[in-house]
Parts: sequence; C-alpha cells; structure tokens
Amino acid sequence: MKNSHIIEAQQFNKKALQEILSAADHIKERTERNLPLDLLKGKILGNLFFVKSMRTNLAFDSAMKRLGGNVSHVDFPETFSSELVGGDFEDTVRVVSSLVDVIVLRHYLSGSAKRAAEVSFVPIINGGDGPAQHPTQALIDLYCIEKLKGGIDGLSIAFIGDLMNSRTIRSLTYFLAKYSGIKIYFASPRVLKIQDDMKEYLRENNIPYHESLDHAEEFKEIVSKADILYLTQIPKDHFTNGTDDYGRSREIFRLTPSTMKIMKKDTYIMHPFPRDYELPVEIDQDPRAVYFDLIKYGQFLRMGLLCRVLGVPVD
Ligand code: CP
Repeated sequence: MKNSHIIEAQQFNKKALQEILSAADHIKERTERNLPLDLLKGKILGNLFFVKSMRTNLAFDSAMKRLGGNVSHVDFPETFSSELVGGDFEDTVRVVSSLVDVIVLRHYLSGSAKRAAEVSFVPIINGGDGPAQHPTQALIDLYCIEKLKGGIDGLSIAFIGDLMNSRTIRSLTYFLAKYSGIKIYFASPRVLKIQDDMKEYLRENNIPYHESLDHAEEFKEIVSKADILYLTQIPKDHFTNGTDDYGRSREIFRLTPSTMKIMKKDTYIMHPFPRDYELPVEIDQDPRAVYFDLIKYGQFLRMGLLCRVLGVPVD
C-alpha cells in the first residue's frame, strides 16, 4: 500500500481493505494503551480543498497532528491570484506535491482525484470528487459497521434519502459488494433514486438489492428489517414539480421516536453529516444512534490510512 493513491472504492480488493481496517485497529489499540503515536513525525500532509469541507478537512488535519506530523492547508486555490491568471489544476498538484508527503484532495469535479494522481509526486487521497466518490468516508463507515456488528458478511444495509448525489453511498456500495451474504435496500424519492450503474454493478456481483421509491409503508418495512440504516439529507433543489413532493418525501424518509420503535434492538443508524430534518435530535440519545461514534472510529481509520500510504508500520 506504500505510495498508493486512494482514488475510488473499486480499486481495493478484500485483502487491501482488510489491510486498512487492521491499521485502524492497531491505531485504536495504541490509543487505548497510551502507546506513542508520533509515527509520522517529520511528515507533512497537504490538504488541498477546492470545495468547502468541515469534517473531512478537520478530521484529516487532526489525524495527522495526532501522529506527530504537520499539515499545510490550501483552501480554494482557484481564488489565489496566481490561479486566476491561468494556473491549471495539474500544475497546482505538481507544486503542492513537491512540498508535502501526502495530499488529501477535495474537488467539485468527478475524476479530479484520478487526474491528480496522474501527475502527483506523492500519494493522493480522494477526500470527495464531485458526486463520484468519497472513499475515505466509506472506509470509516465500513470500519464502524465492522466494529459495531462484529463483521460485515451477512448484513442488510438500507440506504435512505438522496441516493442519486451521495458519493459516500456510491463508495460504500462498492465496498459492501466485496462481502458475502450482503443485502442492500435503496429507499428514496423517485427524483433522487440510486443511479443505474450502481444497480448494474450489484447485479454483476450477485448482490441482492431492493429499491423502494416514494413509498411510506415499504420504508417502514425496510426500517424494521435492516441491520444498518444509512441516512442522508433530502435536498429541496432537486424537486422541480412544486414543494408538495418535497414535503411528502421529507416526511416519509425521516426517523422519528415512533419509527425507532419498529427498528430491531441491534440495528444501527448512521449518517455522514451534515444532517437535516431526516434525523431529529430527539433520537440522539438512543444507543442505536451511532453517527457520533463514526467520528471517533474515523480518527483511527484516517490515522491508519495515512500510515499505510506513507509506508510507516503501525503494528
Ligand atoms: N462527511 C463529509 O464529507 O463532510 P464534509 O463535507 O464536511 O467534509
């Protein structure tokens, strides 16, 4: 994994996935045993963010600093004077990668991480490229599921909300397809349904899935059956036929204290954040609401990943 770019979920086989998850485990253990964590002393991470980010930017910053390394932030480089007079993306990547040891890139265009990897002198970690992929968030989700459920094989996962534009759900679906006995539910408004290429990928890999569109009763049935409920926001601007459909969709694809009653006792609720109406704060105290635990698991995962791509042993 040393010097590998982390671009998209399809690049990983099961062995590589396990290698990353086990690095996170080693970091978790070191943290819990108060062992030294300064594994990346002297290394510099470049956070190259063309688009706003709170969680990914800050979480990689703190992961690198916890490992004793440093972080240089390049936010919105297109607003810099040098970029405005004709600096191009590839040159920006060449320059930044000459100065740091690893780059986390967030960009508004799909395929940007791959473009960056073609010219970078150091590993590129895709921190989200347009609507395409967000592999590190999905790795965190996968790690959190593994820790909470004791494994991933045999689980049923329900993706709920805006499935059309969620790069995290795309990446996580690709990851889940590598495990056995997985079943996937897609529950969404029709205007935000999962894209056909994802369904085709699942069919090719013999992963059973069920798609439910705009259906309140089916939504409740899915909530009562799935092992993991993975929610996302429903954005208003995708509804062009008046606000009624938006209002109805918001009500259908929402967890409330009453829908929590039909969930199994060991079903977990996840959300990549930021949240909106779909996830009211009233349910935060329920032990099945694990979306804040994701942040903690995310630290171990990001720290482990940085060590792996920089070729620094963690065990
Ligand atoms: N979950 C996530 O990617 O959040 P940010 O957009 O704040 O990085």
